Amino acid sequence: MNDISPVKSTSGCPFHGAGAGFTPYYHEDMFEALAEARRNEPVFYDQDTGYWIISRYDDVLSIMHDHERISAVNTSESATPLHQDALDILKNGKFTAEAIQSNCDGPRHARVRNVSAQLLNIRTFAQLESDIRRLVTEALDALHGKERADLLAHFTYELPAQVLFLILGIPKADTHNVKKWAGKRTIMNFSPSTYEQQVDGARHMVDYWRYCVDMVADRMKNPKDDFASNLLKLRNGDDSVITLNELTSVVYGVVFAGHETTTSQLTNAFRALLTERENWEALCADPSLIPNAVEEAFRYCGAVINWRRRAKTEVEIGGVKIPAGGNIMLSFASANRDEKHFENPEKFDIRRKNARKHLTMGNGLHVCLGAPLARLEMKIMLEEFTRRFPGLRLSEGQKIDHAHTYVFRAPRSLPVELQ
Ligand code: HEM
Repeated sequence: MNDISPVKSTSGCPFHGAGAGFTPYYHEDMFEALAEARRNEPVFYDQDTGYWIISRYDDVLSIMHDHERISAVNTSESATPLHQDALDILKNGKFTAEAIQSNCDGPRHARVRNVSAQLLNIRTFAQLESDIRRLVTEALDALHGKERADLLAHFTYELPAQVLFLILGIPKADTHNVKKWAGKRTIMNFSPSTYEQQVDGARHMVDYWRYCVDMVADRMKNPKDDFASNLLKLRNGDDSVITLNELTSVVYGVVFAGHETTTSQLTNAFRALLTERENWEALCADPSLIPNAVEEAFRYCGAVINWRRRAKTEVEIGGVKIPAGGNIMLSFASANRDEKHFENPEKFDIRRKNARKHLTMGNGLHVCLGAPLARLEMKIMLEEFTRRFPGLRLSEGQKIDHAHTYVFRAPRSLPVELQ
């Protein structure tokens, strides 16, 4: 099955229950309805998305560890089944990206993950620290002298991609394309899409896939010290380690996963820190608080609010029977505010002792391979930003708008006063 699969489960539930307050595409005031769900109907069927929503921490965690009965194949499935014209564009464009990472189960997932984990790990990320600090410093230099800015457009949008490029060996000049493809992929996989969006998205996925194919082909001829070259080295021509198409699919996956979520996570973190500004002042006065503030931002305003799974067989969760084939949405946004695990969960508390218990990076066999990098770059960005712009505050009268997707909480702008 392709990475972009047209398949949708048809198993669902005929009734529409107390999840009526659930707003999959409206992320500003979503937390009240989630708290209500945790209290009164912790598992419910959402007609709008066709998913069973799981709201309690314990249920979300147990599903992520139940690999016997629960599959991850649908994590990147297109939210709207793809029109034949979009499928034809993918086919004719030789788009052969395979489902081999977050959307893969069993031994195949373990085999491929074992290869990429040798390159994506805390040891290799730690070596990037001074380069990341240099990139951050350059981005802050560009803000020097400005009174105000859109923090997303001028800081958090491109920077995580440039950090990822240190690993991938991608030139800075390609930032625009990589960010554009990520935006199109978000619409294809994680948002309801129109015919026009699908056709446009499919054309871009073909370009994006071709870019990865060309990168791998180039590194076969001219090996460098970068992700694709090192994957090729690990492969050593042996398909039983990883096939060439799987390897290219890994590159295709990381070119998306490695920056898009970090962009939103950083923007959400800045917003939370500045909303109750004493938090920002606390970090400026004592940067040793930053690592825990990063964890609390993952908990309180995670970039991934829902993540998907599918029941392989009928399962009972929270007293509700989900049929075989039923689509499941793990509400990380709700689990991260479950009062059973987090005291006073609606409070953004940068000193919270168990903030790191959040589920925003997943858990179990699929837990995010880039988590240590995301943590490191967020720490460095906050260290440098607090040092250079301690006067930072939110611009007044702003209304935050989020991208139209039920998977990510991705603000479209964050206007700030810099001085
Ligand atoms: C704030 C930043 C990030 C967030 C919130 C995030 C979140 C996630 C989540 C929720 C998953 C699925 C976990 C599951 O199914 O249990 C995941 C998987 C993954 N992430 Fe991240 N991620 C982030 C950054 C990164 C970065 C920087 C990279 C690469 C450098 C990366 C690479 C991956 C990969 C390769 C997987 C697939 C793991 C597997 O299925 O074996 N992520 N991430």
